[in-house]
Amino acid sequence: MSRIHVLHENPLWLPPLATAFNQRGLPWTEWFMHNGIFDLSAPPPEGVFYNRMSASSHTRDHRYSAELTAGVLAWLAAHGRRVVNGSGALDLEISKARQYAALTAHGVPTPRSILVAGRQKVLDAARLYFANRPVILKPNRGGKGLGVRLFHTLEGLTEHVHSAEYEEPVDGLVLLQDYIRAPEPFITRAEFIGGRLVYAVRVDTSEGFELCPAEACAIGDLACPVGEAPRHKFEILPQSIPGELRGKLERTLADSSVEVAGIEFIADEHGRLFVYDINTNTNYNPEAEERDGRAGTDRSGPGALATFLGTELARLYPKAA
Ligand SMILES: Nc1ncnc2c1ncn2[C@@H]1O[C@H](COP(=O)(O)OP(=O)(O)O)[C@@H](O)[C@H]1O
Ligand SMILES: [Mg+2]
Repeated sequence: MSRIHVLHENPLWLPPLATAFNQRGLPWTEWFMHNGIFDLSAPPPEGVFYNRMSASSHTRDHRYSAELTAGVLAWLAAHGRRVVNGSGALDLEISKARQYAALTAHGVPTPRSILVAGRQKVLDAARLYFANRPVILKPNRGGKGLGVRLFHTLEGLTEHVHSAEYEEPVDGLVLLQDYIRAPEPFITRAEFIGGRLVYAVRVDTSEGFELCPAEACAIGDLACPVGEAPRHKFEILPQSIPGELRGKLERTLADSSVEVAGIEFIADEHGRLFVYDINTNTNYNPEAEERDGRAGTDRSGPGALATFLGTELARLYPKAA
């Protein structure tokens, strides 16, 4: 029987989508991309495939999941299977350098970024490009904000790079990036499904850079900035994002064959917007969706995604759905 196949490596992120599939009576199954056996000389099963491999898979002891997924996606493509977020999405997911190239090609501003290979080159690059300016250090293959650090001085960065705390990035690459000083501690994350904007969510950054919206990440829904009343960390915005940016982002995604993504941007003190992260594996914050009256509907992230995948299944396999 043809069904929806979800390729993933984190079972904790699956329940919201599983519920949405089940509520809609859609046939689906999961492919856990950590270990497994794949007969590449046989055709894959029929169905619609949704790849949600995550850039942070190595942080869950799934060091080779992205590599395994790349091979499996090539096999699916060779047999003409419909894959939502295929190899173009995986390429972006595991490389911020590629994300910035894709964004730049569509005229989307990104923070000035220097790609560095080799721990010993990090300080050379910082001296050359960020002499007296604050700098963000982030892994090229990242996720959930892990390893993203802000340094106000070269001394601070030097100390960190020489310390035991410095983690070698999994692909050997880091980015040094201009720190975008937002006048207020918020970023915006725009959620796209089927290549179109569903909603934008405002995320409170007052407590740091680890901003995974999934319930399973359980970092708490309330932000408690010093001296201020607690507020919700994730808040769906009543308005869309600026039309020009929206068009450019939708074209960027289309060109990279990405259909599902959460794209993050930040505004500086002049109101200029900079896009710095494309999450092709995206999670939705259930409390924010609940407060916005979206939970359980097609206007929620999991609901819109399940409906989109179900529509694709019905289109390609009219008898399955
Ligand atoms: N250039 C930057 N200027 C200011 N804040 C940043 C910058 N880059 C990242 N951040 C902050 O760090 C968080 C994590 O960075 P991000 O690039 O999204 O990494 P990840 O892929 O791990 O989520 C962002 O959501 C934002 O709050
Ligand atoms: Mg991010």
